[in-house]
Amino acid sequence: SAEKPWGGRFTEPTDAFVERFTASVGFDQRLYHHDITGSIAHATMLAEVGVLTMDERDTIIAGLKAVRADIEAGTFEWSVSLEDVHMNIEARLTDRIGITGKKLHTGRSRNDQVATDIRLYLRDEIDVIAEELRRLQTGLLDLAEREAETIMPGFTHLQTAQPVTFGHHLLAWYEMLVRDAERLQDCRKRVNVMPLGAAALAGTTYPIDRSITARLLGFDRPSENSLDSVSDRDFAIEFCSFAALLMTHLSRFSEELVLWTSAQFDFIDLPDRFCTGSSIMPQKKNPDVPELVRGKTGRVNGHLISLLTLMKSQPLAYNKDNQEDKEPLFDTVDTVKGCLRAYADMIPAIEARADNMRVAAKRGFSTATDLADYLVKKGVAFRDAHEIVGKAVAFGVAEGRDLSEMTTDELKRFSDVIGEDVFDVLTLEGSVQARDHLGGTAPAQVRAAVARARKAHLL
Ligand code: ARG
Repeated sequence: SAEKPWGGRFTEPTDAFVERFTASVGFDQRLYHHDITGSIAHATMLAEVGVLTMDERDTIIAGLKAVRADIEAGTFEWSVSLEDVHMNIEARLTDRIGITGKKLHTGRSRNDQVATDIRLYLRDEIDVIAEELRRLQTGLLDLAEREAETIMPGFTHLQTAQPVTFGHHLLAWYEMLVRDAERLQDCRKRVNVMPLGAAALAGTTYPIDRSITARLLGFDRPSENSLDSVSDRDFAIEFCSFAALLMTHLSRFSEELVLWTSAQFDFIDLPDRFCTGSSIMPQKKNPDVPELVRGKTGRVNGHLISLLTLMKSQPLAYNKDNQEDKEPLFDTVDTVKGCLRAYADMIPAIEARADNMRVAAKRGFSTATDLADYLVKKGVAFRDAHEIVGKAVAFGVAEGRDLSEMTTDELKRFSDVIGEDVFDVLTLEGSVQARDHLGGTAPAQVRAAVARARKAHLL
């Protein structure tokens, strides 16, 4: 096994199992790109302040770029005995360029190095996720606009409540994502602070200039306190908390999509390419994508709890516990990206079954509130109106007819203020059109909301 970069004070080799047990290279090699970017900035800064010569800097940078090319070509051999991505890359650099490679780690520790790498990595992933989120939001706005007039039953307690437009329902989803996108950008501000320079925990004796490395790496600023910089992973927890909320929203959308594709609802059709079949039941077309997204919410929630639990009770400053931050964070990133991609592809392909939605909206006395409001406008107190309509509904249940299917005379039996004009409010169209104010379900409001959203978020 290779010589340990920290082997000086040790008198026996690491136990073979302990070597594997403590290694992180199996999963942290994902950070190689950002590790090398960070090292190039560090070497540049060291030369700027006179700790390295310009020649040494150039040799190191060329060597690091060659190592990066090796990794990308798949010719780099990762060594478990070199523990992690950082020591693997540094050892290979020294193999390549000789003694100068051993100077790269001057004024630095793996503790500030890894904290920097994760932040650089996460910043890039946040930007990718933000773009996917925008793609999904755009898809929702397009679909909402297309379905601004489509009427479906709105539910509370999953029982028919009042008619709503399908576009309005989709805009409810959209609003949840607006908040998720805001949370993500807010999290990014705290991710984009540079720990490099904190070294192991106390800073370093070299005349480093942290503003140079921060600028080279695109960080907003260097962090304030060296102990805090190498130890906290709250930025990763914040990201996972954003992710858990996003997944909670996607999971709610998924639940509805699954319900709506069932034969019993039959409100929408998902194209075959987003579904799978059954190995035994020939008729099946299963909504796997929404189901899986709903299921994957569990692992993301789990990762949030893992990281919170990982951090609690850790004394200052760095502890090896923190090596356990990577797998939950990486899996959260992968899961969120996959779910967003599937959703952004699938949403624009949803086909509304407007006829079925209409029939369903008619079925549950969804315009009962409209009738009560009608009575109020004719001078009846709301509580009395509620009672009157309740009786009319009971009659309808017994007869198997909707309010709109009764005659004027039948309706008049419940209140003599009812006239011919009652049918204007009992229709589904009348019902949704009447809710014509900011945030209401009227088609005109849906179109206006879509227009505002496009303008405000450039979607
Ligand atoms: N692989 C380590 C991690 O992921 C890097 C930092 C190790 N530092 C140390 N002092 N052992 O956290």
